[in-house]
Amino acid sequence: MTATLPTLLDQPLLRPTGVGDLRLPNRVVMAPLTRARADNPGLVPTTLHAAYYGQRASAGLIVTEGTWVSERAIGFVNVPGVYSEAQVAGWRRVTDVVHALGGRIVQQLWHTGAASHPDHLGGELPAGPSAIDPRTQTFTPGGFKETLTPRAMTAGDIEATVEEFRTAAANARRAGFDGVEIGALGAFLFAQFLNPRLNHRDDAYGGDRAGRRKLLLDVVDAVTAEWEGRRVGVRLSPYLAATEHFVVEELLGDFDELVTALNDRPLAYLHLRGPDPAGSGESPASEPFARYRKRFERPLIANNGFDRNSANALVDAGCADAVSFATHFVANPDLVGRFALGRELAAGDPATYYQGGARGYADYPAAG
Ligand SMILES: Cc1cc2nc3c(=O)[nH]c(=O)nc-3n(C[C@H](O)[C@H](O)[C@H](O)COP(=O)(O)O)c2cc1C
Repeated sequence: MTATLPTLLDQPLLRPTGVGDLRLPNRVVMAPLTRARADNPGLVPTTLHAAYYGQRASAGLIVTEGTWVSERAIGFVNVPGVYSEAQVAGWRRVTDVVHALGGRIVQQLWHTGAASHPDHLGGELPAGPSAIDPRTQTFTPGGFKETLTPRAMTAGDIEATVEEFRTAAANARRAGFDGVEIGALGAFLFAQFLNPRLNHRDDAYGGDRAGRRKLLLDVVDAVTAEWEGRRVGVRLSPYLAATEHFVVEELLGDFDELVTALNDRPLAYLHLRGPDPAGSGESPASEPFARYRKRFERPLIANNGFDRNSANALVDAGCADAVSFATHFVANPDLVGRFALGRELAAGDPATYYQGGARGYADYPAAG
């Protein structure tokens, strides 16, 4: 059945909402998408980044691709950073374009920890919670490579990492962002600390659940102190079983406690990547979002496998305030307009996700 115009305009996704101190004109969020287009020695975002994000400015909120907080956070090729003055200037071009087009944009802060490789780090070993190989892969200049056994972070490394996040958050502010999102998902630094199989520390940053979440909470405290009001979000993926070291069932209790602890902080939102939908064409289940909604009283942004109908249903059921879309935003820069008008969605080409250049990046047209 074809949806009529009043039905389309009445979509829960198109209702305005508040996220922290930001007013969003709609609830369609652009999820973070690493696109590996900073192919210059300084890992500086270019005018191509400004064009790409500007094309997507009708999103209720844009979350940038994961962005390095420091050189030692690096673990993927051609991903931009936010630790140098040239990078801050590059990002200022991006935020200026998005704001001129009426959008809002927050910066995702990323650190890969043990999921890096000496090829990214001038030949040095990556550091993680303990000297245990996370057994995942990292995209190096020489292609995908297996991770190695890292060295365990010292107390000094941990202190320096918290400061790097603090400085990156201050840099994002100088670059004109509307806020920052702490990327605590996947197989990366915070997820490594949260995981008892990878975190065998016996100091304050390990030992039990409270110890394993301390690094993330220290970073949340440092980053929220850099931003007045509620401009900081956290992204978690409690269900992401990326490798055998990230088996999830035993971790869900830890995540319940973590989310309760996050609720006590002055955060703007929680961005939750839910479980992978059961099968192709299946809608994502609402229970995982309902689980964390009970524990987090401020806005919840849901993600993973949503389309227009399933996202509208989730917001309508009150299980999330907004829904983020990653792959749909690759080939549909005007995703909000397509939802509003009930238009077909274009499909992106995964071969161009990380290949560099404008093709498959900034050359997808708006519909009609
Ligand atoms: C090419 C690509 C790059 C991604 N980069 C990031 C990233 O930098 N940070 C992040 O938190 N998630 C990243 N993700 C995960 C997405 O944000 C999202 O969680 C996932 O694609 C599921 O959402 P979707 O079904 O709307 O695509 C990436 C996903 C893809 C496909």
